Amino acid sequence: MRVLVVGGGGREHALCWKLAQSPLLTALWCAPGNAGIAEVARCVPIGATDIPALVAFAVEQRIDLVVAGPEAPLTIGLADACAAAGLRCFGPSAAAAQLEGSKSFMKQVADAAGAPTAAWARFSDSALARAYVRTTGAPIVVKADGLAAGKGVVVASSVEEAEAAIAEIMDDRIHGAAGAEVIIEECMTGPEISFFALCDGVTAVPFGAAQDHKRVGDGDTGPNTGGMGAYGPPPIFTAAMQAEVMARCITPVLADMAARGAPFRGVLFAGLMLTPTGPRLLEFNVRFGDPECQVLMLRLESDLLPLLVAACETRLHEVPVVWRDESAVVVVMAAEGYPGTPRRGTVIRGLEAADAIPRAKVFHAGTALRADGAVIAEGGRVLGLAATGTDLRHARDTAYAAVAAVDWPEGFCRGDIAARAVMPPTAATGE
Ligand code: AMP
Ligand code: GLY
Repeated sequence: MRVLVVGGGGREHALCWKLAQSPLLTALWCAPGNAGIAEVARCVPIGATDIPALVAFAVEQRIDLVVAGPEAPLTIGLADACAAAGLRCFGPSAAAAQLEGSKSFMKQVADAAGAPTAAWARFSDSALARAYVRTTGAPIVVKADGLAAGKGVVVASSVEEAEAAIAEIMDDRIHGAAGAEVIIEECMTGPEISFFALCDGVTAVPFGAAQDHKRVGDGDTGPNTGGMGAYGPPPIFTAAMQAEVMARCITPVLADMAARGAPFRGVLFAGLMLTPTGPRLLEFNVRFGDPECQVLMLRLESDLLPLLVAACETRLHEVPVVWRDESAVVVVMAAEGYPGTPRRGTVIRGLEAADAIPRAKVFHAGTALRADGAVIAEGGRVLGLAATGTDLRHARDTAYAAVAAVDWPEGFCRGDIAARAVMPPTAATGE
């Protein structure tokens, strides 16, 4: 099969690395890719949101499967354009991608499906939103309704903070059009889990869980990022919790989406909070998590390619998913300045040494190859140093050994990825 992966981050490197191992694969392209992806796929310089160019390329190259990495191309209709051109695409239609693209749509679907989630209200008038938070009191959560690159959420510990967030989102439009409406939500508490289900529109199968570290600094301090590291499987997420999430959140939402005429095909990423009253939905994403995908791909025993094809052909019930009895950890290295303005163009050395460590794997995120062959930093999150191990402690030690092998003075990482899962509670951070 001839496959085109869309995107160019660590998630797409992990997807390409796994797909490249498939005996069914005959050719692999990635648009636009990065320096690491170039080792396993042919990179084509087409942007991930240039839908006409992506579809034209896929038609010309007789691609059998297009795999969407990020949400942006999906929310603007990559899967629809592929379908119109007779191409298979792993990823939901623009209508189904609204589960991530619009928080109010997600809340409506969750309510219609009876999925447990935080109580909520929506406002298009900032004065009414401010009046509402004065009645609810704090803590309270304020969210821009549209896509705001993960930055549109404020967990306000006081009414004043909530009112200030409403003013910034709606009146000052700090996230642009995403702030035309706000969602005000009940504040839930508990550890967060990223849970994944492969969906073919009709059937959903569990596809693993991981825990992400969203803040930039050790001990969960500093601003939010796309994710500074992840580990899995998360010890706190039990088989019983997974069964409950499938039964109460995933399966009913899939049925509701089909009933709306927007069947969901692709990977449904449920952001869950494990509250004292059980798992509840924080959000849906319509793609693999980054860096959670790196952990999933390292742990997946099954061939990924037939699973993605089965999801496109409403045959997921036919294909078993097998996991390795191993843990995996990924530590993200970011460029100085991230999540603000990252420093670009600095040279990264030691990647071969890191990759040579047994059970370690280097995933590239924001890298590029310079004309002289040097690998340089070209983004915020630049590398994912990952490893498997018989347990999380071993995987974590190996991932940090890989970090130590990387020679990149202008990069940094958190020192406490997966610490909460392997250290005694008193020493654990983040919870
Ligand atoms: P979201 O983009 O909706 O996932 O929100 C980003 C982060 O804000 C989540 O990962 C949570 O840490 C936090 N958050 C969002 N909604 C809530 C909520 N209702 N209660 C508590 N924390 C929340
Ligand atoms: N790591 C969280 C996300 O991909 O949204």
